[in-house]
Order: sequence, then C-alpha cells, then structure tokens
Amino acid sequence: MQYTNEELKTKIDELKEKLSVTVVAHFYQRDEVFEVGDITGDSLELAVKTRDDDAEFVLFCGVGFMGQSVKVLSPSKRVVMPKVALCAMASMINGAQYDEAVKALNDSGITNENILPITYINSSAEVKAKVGEMGGMVCTSANAKHIITAALKEGKKILFVPDRCLGQNIANQMGLKSCVIGDGSDLSESDIICFDGFCSVHQLFTLEDIEFYRKKFPDILIAVHPECDPAICNASDFVGSTSQLIKYIKELPAEQKVAVGTEFNMVNRLRPSNTYILSSTKPECPTMNETTLQDVYLTLKAIDEGKPINEIEVDEKTQKWAKIALERMLAL
Ligand code: 13P
Ligand code: SF4
Repeated sequence: MQYTNEELKTKIDELKEKLSVTVVAHFYQRDEVFEVGDITGDSLELAVKTRDDDAEFVLFCGVGFMGQSVKVLSPSKRVVMPKVALCAMASMINGAQYDEAVKALNDSGITNENILPITYINSSAEVKAKVGEMGGMVCTSANAKHIITAALKEGKKILFVPDRCLGQNIANQMGLKSCVIGDGSDLSESDIICFDGFCSVHQLFTLEDIEFYRKKFPDILIAVHPECDPAICNASDFVGSTSQLIKYIKELPAEQKVAVGTEFNMVNRLRPSNTYILSSTKPECPTMNETTLQDVYLTLKAIDEGKPINEIEVDEKTQKWAKIALERMLAL
C-alpha cells in the first residue's frame, strides 16, 4: 500500500514510540528522511553519537560503510539499514586491492615497517581491518589533517586510501609532497601516497563553475568539500568537511552570497537565501538518495514483526581490527 509522506511520518512516529529503535540519518539524506532522524550529523558525529545511544536497534539511513562503522564500534547493537546503499568511493577498494596498493609501495622500496596506512571512513570494514592490522587508523574529512599530523610523528610514509582528492588536499594544506599510485611518479619521494579512488559526486564541480559564479557575483565566496579535486579546492575560499561547511555557512552574514560544492540535499536545506549550488548539474549522491520514507517505515515494521531486514553483520576478525582502526582515530 502506498502512503503519503504525512501518513508515513505518523506511522514511523508510532513505531518509534513502541520499539527500542534509534533512527540515525546522515546530512545527505532526502529532507523527509532526515526529518525523522533522532540522531543526525556527518559521518564522524554519527559514529560517535550512536555509540553512546542505548536503544537495541539502530536504523541507519546513509550508506553501507556508515552502518558498518556503527556495528564495528558497538557489536552488541543490532544495526539495520532501510537500503544497504553503497558509497561509490568506498566500493573502489576491497581487501585485495588494498594489498596491491601496499605491494606497489613495497616495489618502490618502502617496506611495511615504514608504511603507516590511513583509511578515510568512506571504506569497507574489510579495508579498515587491513589498515588496523598494519598499525594504521581511520580518519574522516573533519579530522583528516589532525590524524595525519599525529601519524607523521612516526616518521613513516602514509598510504592514504581510498580518496586521492582528500589525501592530496590535506598534503597541500600541510605543505607535504603527495602522489597517486599509478601516476608515474616515484612513490618513495612522497610523504602521502594516495590510492586512486574518488567521489563522482564531488568531481562534478569545475573551475568553469567557479569562474561563472565569481563573474556573476564578484563578492561571492566559494566553499567546497575536500573530496573535490585539488584544483577546485585551491581556487576556493573555504574547504571543509560537511560539519565544517555547515558551521562556516551558517556563520556568514545573511547578505553574503556563497556557492557551495558538496551534496545537493545538504546544501539545499542550509540557508534560506544567498546560497548557491556550485554546479549546473544537480550534485545528488545517487546511493544516499536511495533511502525513502517508505523504506524507513517498512524497516521499522519488519522489526515490529520480529523479522528485521537488512541487518548489518561483520565477522569477528574484521570487527576486531576495524574497531582498533576506528578507536585509534577516536583516541586522537
Ligand atoms: P562526511 O564525513 O563529511 O559526513 O562525509 C561523508 C561523505 O560521504 C562525503 O561525501
Ligand atoms: Fe560516497 Fe560520494 Fe556519496 Fe559521499 S557523496 S557517500 S563519498 S559517493
């Protein structure tokens, strides 16, 4: 049966009242899904806030690696996802591809003892576990600079997976040398060696888009996410994670125009006026958009009927090492 959004919201509220469930929603979710979230935030905030929550079930509206991270940090929780939607960037690297990346460094004369791997939280539990087992840790776009600063104290080469843009942008901000595996450079000459992964949504923003807005409104500010290409970040006024972008934009004077280079749903609900999407193409994350209000309702109904659907499971060994990699980040 098809319900209107208003009817679905009422049904969702009734089931939330009855069940021990916390609904968690990432900032990139559709507005109507975001509105039913008990906990909302960026990937770091969601991982931390959900860990401290004591409901039996976490109903996670986001992409697969986010639900997995909750399960890894809190294995006793039952984590279900209305859609097990996969982040395209996280899907670019699996365990075998991670091993190949390590081998590429070995082939350039960098031994495992001299590699400190860091994985962006946008990666599978399998990759996080590999990183944890090698003594490395996780970072998010909100804390990447802080984590890399701490990691560099070990005097090792950093293998950064999967996002080449985030890795290179942080290297640029810190005045470090970076490269991408396979770009033809001598890997041993770089401080940060990046895997060749990327987010297709954040590749939509171009220098032409920046030029267009700067010409149209000479006083406009350009604010982008560090998953954008380094050329875009270098030409922008502010580069920040989801939560950093929200803070920056909300604190601007109301009359200050800003064009924002990140996911559409989040930008669209940021500020009533003077906020523009830095692209002529609507930058929606297709997999974040897969989750509908109907899916949230059906997932709650399945819990109520005692037959939870799309439950996240992580095997014991993967859970152990992925947790270590996540906790090294949280400890910093
Ligand atoms: P945040 O870590 O900023 O929430 O971003 C997650 C993400 O997928 C960005 O594309
Ligand atoms: Fe993954 Fe990009 Fe979607 Fe973020 S916006 S979830 S990095 S595909």
